[in-house]
Order: sequence, then structure tokens, then C-alpha cells
Amino acid sequence: MIVNSVSLFYFLLCRVPLSVPVWYTICMSRECAADDAERISSPASQFDKIAFLYDELMSGVPYHSWVAYVHRILERFDCRPRTVLDLCCGTGSVGLLLAGEGYRVAGVDVSPAMVSLAKRRAEEAGLAVDYFVQDASSLHLGRKFDLIISLFDSLNYILESSALQEAFYRASEHLEPGGLLVFDMNTELALAVGLFDQSNLGSKSSLIYNWRSSYDLAARICRVQMDFACRQGAVEERIEVVHYQRAYDLEEIVDMLSSAGLHTLAVYHAYTLRKATGRSDRVFYIARK
Ligand SMILES: C[S@@+](CC[C@H](N)C(=O)[O-])C[C@H]1O[C@@H](n2cnc3c(N)ncnc32)[C@H](O)[C@@H]1O
Repeated sequence: MIVNSVSLFYFLLCRVPLSVPVWYTICMSRECAADDAERISSPASQFDKIAFLYDELMSGVPYHSWVAYVHRILERFDCRPRTVLDLCCGTGSVGLLLAGEGYRVAGVDVSPAMVSLAKRRAEEAGLAVDYFVQDASSLHLGRKFDLIISLFDSLNYILESSALQEAFYRASEHLEPGGLLVFDMNTELALAVGLFDQSNLGSKSSLIYNWRSSYDLAARICRVQMDFACRQGAVEERIEVVHYQRAYDLEEIVDMLSSAGLHTLAVYHAYTLRKATGRSDRVFYIARK
């Protein structure tokens, strides 16, 4: 996740090719995330810790535009879903927009705290969305969907390729024949060039944050040290959390999808209907069962 005002910047950035070689070289770090292997916390705990900050951090994220983009994709592939699974739903932003449009939506996420906020938001909005706390790699909901979406680089949090393969198997099992799986991932380029590095230090906001990332080229893992300070009157709470994302090649993902019985229809440069290139820092995969 790349957040706040930076999100908008990032959204725009996805449309503008980066000066890749320069950034790539500058930001490549020898710091070895693989050394941390035993200490890498689960995505659930990574997000549980910051769930209460998440929606504030995301306040600049153009979720409406993302949903509009998903609609363009659905139109392009003549998909008219009635049922949607928001995989790695977080606090529910995408699923709730779709539920508000009349789709029958379910959401699943591995973080209990994120799901609990999603449930609360659905209740407050008077929307009927079924939420589940489950890991994408062992998903078992006992029902199928016309469309599964997973937005905002959620699948990059799955650090083992075997676990990601399992997640695709499970997604395939939960799709109706002809159903679509649509998800976005950060490419290695995004993880290596330090797009996670951001802060709002010096701002008057009650939430101050400072994020620093390093990329381990061998392990293909980006480690992001996230430090937050939340001020409430004279009281300041400090929170530190480390997030990890893994880079996967386009071909690797397409092979995994294929093994899971999913045919890749397109790999797009994010938020466009243009083919992804080596300069794409975020890509959207569209696969049909
Ligand atoms: C960057 S957030 C995106 C949330 C939401 N999709 C959005 O657009 O706001 C990534 C989410 O993926 C979830 N996640 C990471 N690994 C997961 C896994 N293996 N199974 C289910 N959820 C996972 C995290 O708990 C977190 O809520």
C-alpha cells in the first residue's frame, strides 16, 4: 500500500513511466531481508497493529477511480457479475462501493482487526456484506463467485510462491466457470525503487508517519519499516510495524494462474488497458476460469 497524498501521486505515477535505471540503482539495498526470515511477522499481525489507522491513511486513495477501472475491465471482457468476492478486503473500501452498486459482495481478509472494521463500516452504511477472517492460501467459503477481485497489492504480502500458488488454487475453486479473477500487484520495479519511502513529518496532522524501505534483490522481498505517531491532545502513541512484500515476475504469475486452471486474458499497466511493460510498476492481471 502506498498511501495518503502520496497515493494520488502514485496513482498518477502509474500512468507515467519512471526513469527506471536511475531509481533502480539508487534504491537497491544490500540490506538482507532474508536474514529476517524467522522474524517476519504474519500479514495478519502486520495489519492488526495499524488497522485503526488504515482508513485515515487511505483517505487520499482514489477507490472510486479504482472501481471505475474494474468496471472498464469487466466491460472489456464482457463479464457481468452478480456475486463478487473482495479477496484481502482490508477495511472493505472496494467491496462496499460494489455492494452500494447492488452487487452481492463477500469480503475476506487474514487480519481480524481489518475485518472487524469492514463489518462496522458495512453496518453503518446499511449494506449487507458477508465478511470472513481467512487466509487467501487456505480459503474455504463453500460458495462460488462470478468475480473475485484483490486490489492494492494485497497479494504481494504472500511471500512464498507456494503459498501464492495455493491462493490461486483456492481462488479458482471459488470462481464460477467463466468467472474472472482481477488483481493488481506491485512489480519488482516498484518494490526496488523505494516507492514505499514516504513521510508526513512536520505536518500538523494528528497522525505522523515515516516509512523507510529496503529491497533484498536475492530474496525479492521489500522490507518497509513503518513508524507512526498518533497525537491525541497531549498524549502521543508511537507504533512501529514492519511490512514485507514479495516481487513476482509476470511470467511466474501467469504460470501459477494457469496451474490453477485460470487463463490469463490480459496483464495491464495499472489503470490502463495497455499491456504491461518492463517499466510498469503496478500491473493488473485478469484471468478467466
Ligand atoms: C494493502 S491492504 C489492501 C486492503 C484492501 N484491498 C484495500 O484496497 O484497501 C492488504 C490487505 O491484504 C491482507 N492480506 C495480506 N495477506 C493476506 C492473506 N494471505 N490472506 C488474506 N488477506 C491477506 C492484509 O491483512 C490487508 O488487509
